[in-house]
Amino acid sequence: MEIRLRDGRLIPVEMYKTRMVQKLELVPCEKRLKAIEEAGYNTFLLKTKDIFLDMLTDSGVNAMSDNQFAAFIATDDAYAGSRTFYEFADAVKKILGYQYVMNVHQGRAAEHLLSKVFAKPGGVIITNYHFTTTKAHIELTGNSICLELYMDEALKTKSSHPFKGNMDIQKLRDAIKKYGAEKIGYVRMEATTNLLGGQPFSMENLKEVRKVCNDNGLLLVIDGSLISENAYLIQKRERGYENKTVAEIVKEICSYADLFYLSGRKNTSVRGGFIATSNKKLFEQLEPWLPVYEGFFTYGGMSMREIGAMAVGLMEMVDPGVAGSPVEQIRYFVENLDEMGIPVVTPPGGLACHLDAREFLPHIPKENYIAGALTAALYIASGVRAMERGTISMDRAPDGTELYADLELTRIALPRRVYSVSHIEYTIDRIKWLYEHRELIKGLRFISEPPVLRFFLGKLEPIENWGRKLTEAFKKDFGEEM
Ligand code: F0G
Repeated sequence: MEIRLRDGRLIPVEMYKTRMVQKLELVPCEKRLKAIEEAGYNTFLLKTKDIFLDMLTDSGVNAMSDNQFAAFIATDDAYAGSRTFYEFADAVKKILGYQYVMNVHQGRAAEHLLSKVFAKPGGVIITNYHFTTTKAHIELTGNSICLELYMDEALKTKSSHPFKGNMDIQKLRDAIKKYGAEKIGYVRMEATTNLLGGQPFSMENLKEVRKVCNDNGLLLVIDGSLISENAYLIQKRERGYENKTVAEIVKEICSYADLFYLSGRKNTSVRGGFIATSNKKLFEQLEPWLPVYEGFFTYGGMSMREIGAMAVGLMEMVDPGVAGSPVEQIRYFVENLDEMGIPVVTPPGGLACHLDAREFLPHIPKENYIAGALTAALYIASGVRAMERGTISMDRAPDGTELYADLELTRIALPRRVYSVSHIEYTIDRIKWLYEHRELIKGLRFISEPPVLRFFLGKLEPIENWGRKLTEAFKKDFGEEM
């Protein structure tokens, strides 16, 4: 919840109390340098023993509630026909309004099945913006390309547009004309748009997309991995929705989709994922593949205890104290940095605070992985682990040419109900120090580069050994202990 203090500041107030804790350690800067060197300047390859605040992602690291842990115990373990699965299916009906659901082992498994079944030979899948695994699965079908029809404003990192995750309706109509409706596997809307900086779409835009899909006989798929944040932002920003509940908005979003999927590692704060629909025919097209790739239809690659906790997570995610908790912390994070003149993606969205690495480090050429360098530098200066979301997160074209990302972002994710405002204050302080010393940071070059999703396992080295120089500057200002 946001509460205004008497001095006028609007602060995010945690609507939960901590009843189980995990110890954190902040290792000194010299040790952080050694750790990032061993990790090949890739924060994915750091070990948590060397990390202070793990803001790599919100995936699988959100705090679960007391009721979710209780559901772990009250689980009915069965290979087939588990009571827990049917309770979960009831929660899907109640919260999302869908009649049919299948679990999968995580979000990308849903993307695999959807691409496999609905991609058309020589075709396209249209989306407001790609996500890494979504694009990989579309392309791995070998028959379709992924076409992104975002609005032009989406690539402006500094903006006051409330819904940069919207699809450009004119571009959608033009694409249908160009490719032909029969070639389009489906139209996908991601709530909120991860790689654009967690930006939401509006209900008005979603309704327009639905209308174009209706007019052309196209399937509309929603990736609802962060649907409750998108709904919360609609409530805050879209006229006509200020008096609706998050639960009502979530249900309305779902009502426009033919197929819905999510990564359960995010919104429901557990693990796994699922695909849901009220269209029996579509469900039956997917169903035969489920036991081949995931597992029998009442578990789909997840453990029953996770499915039980996911049912509780679905009910909890529409509570404004849950849906709003990351959004308000992110707003606080982004607005404070923005006021200091530090380049961040605005307006604040869901998922994370995103530093605009191109603006932060204008002296680094695009060939030298700007966001990768900033992400590694942030770790050296703070022990905070963020994620590169720029060119390293793109793979090369099949002929080996580099494909430069539209945006070079350092994503500092806020898992749900995990970190406090003082953790955010600390991170803001170290980012400010980094900004004042930004000229010390140079770029990176690959020393070992995997061919697919290279950002996970690739290793890089710093140009002109800038990591050492940054460490020396840090120790001069903060001493050996920090
Ligand atoms: N769709 C979206 C919008 C996502 O953000 C993710 C994962 C997936 C699909 C894939 O789901 O990980 O369960 O297989 N996002 C994580 C992240 C990895 O860190 O942003 P998954």
